[in-house]
Amino acid sequence: MHIIHIAVEMAPIAKVGGLGDVVTSLSRAVQDLNHNVDIVLPKYDCLNLSNVKDFNFHKTYFWNGTEIKVWHGKVEGLSVYFLEPQNGFFNTGCVYGCQNDAERFGFFCHAALEFLLQNGFHPDIIHCHDWSSAPVAWLSKEQYTHHGLSKAKVVFTIHNLEFGAQLIGKAMAYADKATTVSPTYSREVAGNPAVAPHLHKFHGIINGIDPDIWDPYNDDFIPVPYTSENVVEGKRAAKEALQQRLGLKRGDLPLVGVISRLTHQKGIHLIKHAMWRTLERGGQVVLLGSAPDPRIQREFEDLASQLQSAHHDHARFCLSYNEPLSHLIYAGADFILVPSIFEPCGLTQLTAMRYGSIPVVRKTGGLYDTVFDVDHDTDRAEAQGLEPNGFSFDGADVGGVDYALNRAISAWYDARDWFNSLCKAVMEQDWSWNRPALDYLELYQSACKLVDGKGG
Ligand code: ADP
Ligand code: GLC
Repeated sequence: MHIIHIAVEMAPIAKVGGLGDVVTSLSRAVQDLNHNVDIVLPKYDCLNLSNVKDFNFHKTYFWNGTEIKVWHGKVEGLSVYFLEPQNGFFNTGCVYGCQNDAERFGFFCHAALEFLLQNGFHPDIIHCHDWSSAPVAWLSKEQYTHHGLSKAKVVFTIHNLEFGAQLIGKAMAYADKATTVSPTYSREVAGNPAVAPHLHKFHGIINGIDPDIWDPYNDDFIPVPYTSENVVEGKRAAKEALQQRLGLKRGDLPLVGVISRLTHQKGIHLIKHAMWRTLERGGQVVLLGSAPDPRIQREFEDLASQLQSAHHDHARFCLSYNEPLSHLIYAGADFILVPSIFEPCGLTQLTAMRYGSIPVVRKTGGLYDTVFDVDHDTDRAEAQGLEPNGFSFDGADVGGVDYALNRAISAWYDARDWFNSLCKAVMEQDWSWNRPALDYLELYQSACKLVDGKGG
């Protein structure tokens, strides 16, 4: 099969959040199963081109009176076409955040389909994502049904229904198949007007992470390579390196990490409360986060100085986006906290487990589907063929997060051997794309069998 993703994010060159990770890692998994995958991406001026191999000029074409230069390169072994319209739409220094984002991405979607047509592609599947490439779904059905695109089926994935629900609803109507990124989130949004009329073609498929990109045995950003066999030594070295790098007091203390966009979705009040709670219990906290809203940024700056004066050298906040530091935190933390108010899938809890860190999460969306509480979810885990792997809580008040965090920290202090065996066990769980990529292939194949292109 030939699958073409049209997307506005792609890790590591243009990543804002998990969407970027998924475009890259799902594509790699599908390509590894011997399918042909291409990605079409805007050529932002902020692209990190050092991560693009064999970067070459491909061609020029015109759409809607605008000259568009196309570049081609390889990212993580994937073939990527970069569209550079000469109207300067992507010379904005960042992926999102311009007042005309909808217009910019609408233009990109149209230009991408035009490129596929003019370049003579014959894809089986065109896969688009979220509101930002939603227009691909209706444009391909209304305007691009000729030549090489006549047999292409459209798959649309909702990563987050909070943004652009109207555009998402329109794409849902036109797509041949639609997915979202976990079974529980698919049920949570089933009643949403953008989704409800289309449930017959809507599937919840859990995301995976790329085990080569996230690999504690082969990671330039951590001091000692480790597998589940030497997880205790590997994580001890990583914790020491993290403490040293951030100027935290050195020592064997329970360390809670948060790696997150700092937005309402991520449970801001619960994160703040958990920081205090961990410090009260003699632990350390490290937060790596970026807040698009300057008010939230200031709140965290204030909290950082309050924590610093109350618990000197036990708390560090890095209020920026920092990929290398995120690796060291995943490795050096004992716990990764994800107390989201809603979470379509969530990748941080999966990456945490890959690095032998124990997730402490709120039971919602993909967090519910991937984290099984050691005290409460044995049966649910068993049904998935898994051992329980973390601590979780219901509700959105601070009592819930206290309940999960207190049990987690107590286990660290009082049952260290058991805790270490839990770290080993979570590392051995498979949260890669091995299984979900097969689900996507099955979905792609069933889309290809549809005759009228109206979705089913
Ligand atoms: P979302 O897409 O809603 O932000 P996910 O959990 O799906 O949430 O994905 C977040 C991704 O972004 C993860 O790969 C996480 O490691 C990464 N990330 C989030 N914040 C930062 C940050 N400040 N620095 C580096 N990586 C970050
Ligand atoms: C969105 C969601 C997150 C999900 C990611 C990748 O950003 O907020 O839960 O993991 O997309 O699908």
